[in-house]
Amino acid sequence: MPVPRFFKASGRLCPMKLAVAGKGGVGKTSVTAWLGDYLARRGEDVWLVDADTALSLGQALGLPEEDIPVPLVKNTELIRERVGEGFIRLNPEVKDLPERLARKVGNLRLLVMGSIAAAGGGCACSANALLKALLAHLIIAGGQWVIVDLEAGVEHLGRGTVQSVDGLIVVSEPSLRSLRTAATISSLAKDMGLSRQALVINRAPDEFTLPEIAGLPPCAAVIPAFASLAHRQIVNPSVLDLPDRNEIDRFCQGIIARFTNGKE
Ligand SMILES: Nc1ncnc2c1ncn2[C@@H]1O[C@H](COP(=O)(O)OP(=O)(O)O)[C@@H](O)[C@H]1O
Ligand SMILES: [Mg+2]
Repeated sequence: MPVPRFFKASGRLCPMKLAVAGKGGVGKTSVTAWLGDYLARRGEDVWLVDADTALSLGQALGLPEEDIPVPLVKNTELIRERVGEGFIRLNPEVKDLPERLARKVGNLRLLVMGSIAAAGGGCACSANALLKALLAHLIIAGGQWVIVDLEAGVEHLGRGTVQSVDGLIVVSEPSLRSLRTAATISSLAKDMGLSRQALVINRAPDEFTLPEIAGLPPCAAVIPAFASLAHRQIVNPSVLDLPDRNEIDRFCQGIIARFTNGKE
């Protein structure tokens, strides 16, 4: 029997590269941390990439602020060395970078890229070239999962970078404004060639019905607001090891299943 596309012959999941997008504050960083933690506890090798200006993924994973690495986009010397200026190298040498720049958090590894949106102009091109090469290298190097926490949408990523991602998770609050942003992000990503997508509604009330909005990806999870998280985050920015972890795991399973042909 042929092995489904996202399964290895062993029956284990084939690692994917996923990006997480959505309006500010909807829960992208939390969902990224939850998915990474869920996969890592299943024995998967997971790299999380923080591509936001807020750099909160490290904190969401429970890292003390002083241990969070300087974002790669701020390391202009390294970018110049690898990618060049003016005529940029589209296949920069990155083999040594993941190990050199990553922080280990339990079974997860965190790479802090920083915001490509904030890089602007030619710097955005260089940052994209580096991110694309890193994404390509990570998956080839040893079958790792890669989950990229984006600032908002995909519009700042180059087409090449978007096309090197296997799937897009669009997170939205249960509000029209947030859902419309989700639909816009989804269409843009589709136009750039990324059609494998899943919608995640976060902080949903008990009775929630998804309104009809053209262009939304299929819904993979409706996550409630966790009182445990609301209480915890006053004293601790980590979103992991919550009392609701089993419930969170079930949502993660549903999201991953959306990208693995339902075979999770
Ligand atoms: N389901 C949830 N229940 C309770 N609080 C949540 C939930 N999801 C996210 N939060 C909180 O909402 C805030 C914004 O979430 P975050 O993941 O940082 O959003 P984004 O990365 O999209 O800006 C954080 O303080 C986070 O802890
Ligand atoms: Mg965030």
